[in-house]
Amino acid sequence: MIIVGGPASAYLAEKISEASGLKLIRVEHKLFPDGENYIRFPEKVSGEDLLVVQGFHPPQDRHIFQAFLMADAALDLGARSVHLLSPYLAYARQDKRFLEGEAMSLSTLLKLLKASGYERVYTVNVHSPWAVESSPVPVKDILAEEALADYIMAMRLNDAVVVSVGKKGKCMAERVAGFLRTDYLVAQSTRDKFTGEVSVVLEDSVRGRSVLVVDDIISTGGTMAKLVEVLRNMGARRIIAACIHGLMIGDAAERILRAGAETIIASDTVPSSYSRYSVARILAREVLSRA
Ligand code: R5P
Repeated sequence: MIIVGGPASAYLAEKISEASGLKLIRVEHKLFPDGENYIRFPEKVSGEDLLVVQGFHPPQDRHIFQAFLMADAALDLGARSVHLLSPYLAYARQDKRFLEGEAMSLSTLLKLLKASGYERVYTVNVHSPWAVESSPVPVKDILAEEALADYIMAMRLNDAVVVSVGKKGKCMAERVAGFLRTDYLVAQSTRDKFTGEVSVVLEDSVRGRSVLVVDDIISTGGTMAKLVEVLRNMGARRIIAACIHGLMIGDAAERILRAGAETIIASDTVPSSYSRYSVARILAREVLSRA
């Protein structure tokens, strides 16, 4: 298996190659003046099994199209198989029709990945694991809570209570708390389908405690900021905001810090100044187990 660093995730591909010892090919990429993508494999890929590392973080559609180009070009150049490792799978929040007439974006994306030639897709903490179970291209969801917990342990914050929101947040909080050997609480949240406004309720006490708030994604920061505000009003002593995928759209970070979080911690699935821990070791382990 050869690791191919796509334009969106060249940094992560290098780390995975280092951690796994697998050869790395960096694709050449440029944008033409009109915004169209140019992709070139600078080395022979004929007869090889390739793992293309290409996140679908913003600009999502550009990164997705680059993934199509890489698969199709590689197969045309004689690659034996092409697999995709997309550490952040875009459109996973539009996994069903919330309002009549909506496009089912995740389903469309998975069909197109299959059509472009990918044999298998690996991703990290996909937002809607249930929706990828019936994907036309097999999807393997790799969980990264262990990497987050390792970082928190190094911060010596193991005694913090872990808090998250909703059913899926409960699973994440339970896993992080398990690695940290601490307890966890689950808040309930609702989001208005039309305005996007989030409201959060937590029934248990956090007075005087350090709190590690975890969520799979921070996008606009609305959910995290609301939760942080509720925890601060309930008397939490320290509040650390953590996620796997830190999209950090617009003033997301300012909103969360203004609400009372001491710091924000995200992984490197989406590159940003908040990427404090890496998922590379976990991904390398998964890749080696299949190579
Ligand atoms: C919701 O189900 C997710 O787990 C996140 O809470 C949500 O996607 C975060 O979005 P935002 O930062 O825009 O509130």
